[in-house]
Amino acid sequence: MKILVTGGCGFIGSNFIRLLLDSRDYEITNLDALTYAGNLESLSDLEDHPNYRFVKGRIEDRDLVAELMRQVDSVVNFAAESHVDRSIQDASSFITTNVMGTQVLLDAFRRAGCKGVFVHVSTDEVYGSLAPDEPAFKETDSLYPNSPYSASKASSDLLCRAAWKTFGLPVVITRCSNNYGPYQFPEKLIPLMIINGLEGRKLPVYGDGQNIRDWIFVLDHCRGCLAALEKGRKGAIYNFGGRCEKTNMEVIRSILEILGLSEEMIEFVKDRPGHDRRYAMDTSLAMRELDWRPEVSFERGIEDTVKWYVDNRYWWERIISGQYRNYYRVQYGKDLGVKP
Ligand code: NAD
Ligand code: DAU
Repeated sequence: MKILVTGGCGFIGSNFIRLLLDSRDYEITNLDALTYAGNLESLSDLEDHPNYRFVKGRIEDRDLVAELMRQVDSVVNFAAESHVDRSIQDASSFITTNVMGTQVLLDAFRRAGCKGVFVHVSTDEVYGSLAPDEPAFKETDSLYPNSPYSASKASSDLLCRAAWKTFGLPVVITRCSNNYGPYQFPEKLIPLMIINGLEGRKLPVYGDGQNIRDWIFVLDHCRGCLAALEKGRKGAIYNFGGRCEKTNMEVIRSILEILGLSEEMIEFVKDRPGHDRRYAMDTSLAMRELDWRPEVSFERGIEDTVKWYVDNRYWWERIISGQYRNYYRVQYGKDLGVKP
């Protein structure tokens, strides 16, 4: 099988490519724009793998996407603007990439007559926020996105649904809860807290720190995406989650404990506007139809993740200094052409 993975230089996409190259004989094309969140260094050890090639480009580039689509069977679409806080500052790139880019991919997939599956990777945030006693989100729940990010993801999910209904495009949508693990960009809660802890900086907690997220180790999510690609029912939506609801304070305390640091490093800061209170996922459909379940406990996953950031200082120090942006020029002899 030949697969177009979009956004493969990001956090989840790079872990997914690593999983594919380790466990399957598929040919992978990684299309990534190398925005600030894309880091070629996350895959530097796989650059010469015979089943892997990198193409720098945007998913909303019709000509490029049409050309690549003629060369593949299936698509796994990770490419997105993914950070809620950035979408609150300026939503425009979220609309361009998440909404328009997804439609370009769907159109190109159809026109090229791809024989495989179009897996669209989405998020639990499209369902909105839960009260403490409400049941976990099901795939049949209505969509009530609350941030520009989640609204753009909900829009892309609906475009995928429309492509399935109107053209019979073999689309499978996955919706996952909060991922953590190696190679996550240090703007997200867990890597930010680990790195601030290691650097002796304050740990900024939004609001009262009692917001609840369901945490899943990134490899468990990647295994779910692979199962959706290989076994997903066409037109289906599958929820993935770690069955691990925790308040932000609980997560931060675990990190401080592993690092042997004091809670005095915590600093409560102004809350995120429209901050969703709680997410929780009912994953029974994926468990039944895909024979999938999360395998990594939070205790093991967070321990391994903290250790990874301790052992891989080089990776995140180059992000903080901005040097990771030079890697493309060094490897490919061309300028990035986009601002960090
Ligand atoms: P990320 O921000 O780490 O990576 C996104 C990648 O997409 C980057 O490599 C970036 O360069 C690339 N990209 C951005 N715009 C592009 C464009 N126009 N064309 C081509 N490439 C582009 O994101 P992530 O955390 O790895 O998330 C991947 C996907 O999974 C996203 O669709 C996100 O909505 C979804 N998701 C993430 C989580 C999570 O907890 N991180 C949970 C559920 C779903
Ligand atoms: O739920 C899945 C989503 O998880 C994905 O779709 C998104 O792409 C991903 O970014 C993530 O969104 P969140 O907004 O939940 O993740 P973030 O890491 O930004 O924040 C997690 C929680 O921690 C949230 O309640 C806000 C809080 N937080 C975050 C940061 C960055 C803080 O308290 N302090 C911080 O500095």
